[in-house]
Amino acid sequence: MSLGTLFPSLSLALYVSLCVAESVDEVRAAVRRARQAGKIVGFVPTMGALHVGHVSLMQRARAECDLVVTSIFVNPTQFGPSEDFTRYPRPRETDLQICGESGVDVVFYPTVETMYPAGHRTYVEVGGLSEILEGAIRPGHFRGVATVVTKLFNIVQADRAYFGQKDYQQQTLIRVMTRELDLPTEVITCETIRDPDGLALSSRNAYLSPAERQSGLSLSRALRTADALVAGGERDVKRLEAAMRRELESTPGVKIDYAVIVHHESLAELTAAEPTMVALVAATVGSTRLIDNWILRLPRKS
Ligand code: PAJ
Repeated sequence: MSLGTLFPSLSLALYVSLCVAESVDEVRAAVRRARQAGKIVGFVPTMGALHVGHVSLMQRARAECDLVVTSIFVNPTQFGPSEDFTRYPRPRETDLQICGESGVDVVFYPTVETMYPAGHRTYVEVGGLSEILEGAIRPGHFRGVATVVTKLFNIVQADRAYFGQKDYQQQTLIRVMTRELDLPTEVITCETIRDPDGLALSSRNAYLSPAERQSGLSLSRALRTADALVAGGERDVKRLEAAMRRELESTPGVKIDYAVIVHHESLAELTAAEPTMVALVAATVGSTRLIDNWILRLPRKS
């Protein structure tokens, strides 16, 4: 779904009341006022380059909370040295317009110096979960995510924070971290928004050529194949994983990082099927890394 469909007339009119806070004090003051008035505060952390997936989180927060805060911050600590930190898109005006149109009240838009003043040396690590799957391929990535999310949670002090299922391992890690550090924000996971052809929306899809985009469809196809096999009675996890790999390997230009079925909470490897599992796939298409996932549920025996 395109933003044009969602907002046929992107206009300035609706976003005049949007407050853009660049400092920690400004965002804290806005949240304090709301809290003192007894309002529920919802928070949607993002790195900008907003698309309908982000908008769905903002709209959910809008429906469930009185004050909606979004952060837009391309977090350098979660990018590896050879990753796309510098070329990551930063369309500031369009992003602010989308926030306004999606019912956001406050956008926290800090600089790198605000979030990481010179000499910053405190990091958060979630043992085990940070090192597997995405973490094995992107060393240090989840340390950066856990650190920035902890900082953002402490800055915004929201009642609820909204994350996408699209980044399944990320939401798992944030849930564990929030629980183990006793952070007082409730983590809410929202469903993955896809284009009609099945491609999960991602800011990185903008890097794909039309041919690469076609190849990128193999990720959701692989997940749907696993889902159909489970519905048809397949219970052998290794056979399900092999079917996903076949789908990806038969698509030109796709380099698989992993295609696995794991426990839906611990993300541990499975030897036998569980009532709820999650299929996780990651691959590079051209020079763009894509990830996707699907929850697999065994049909209940009647
Ligand atoms: P970003 O990639 O901008 O994503 C922000 C939020 O939007 C995440 O919770 C992500 O899971 C969600 N999202 C992305 N694509 C989605 C889709 N197609 N459907 C539903 N939700 C989707 O994830 C990050 O930023 C960063 O790591 C962050 C948590 C902000 C920390 O820097």
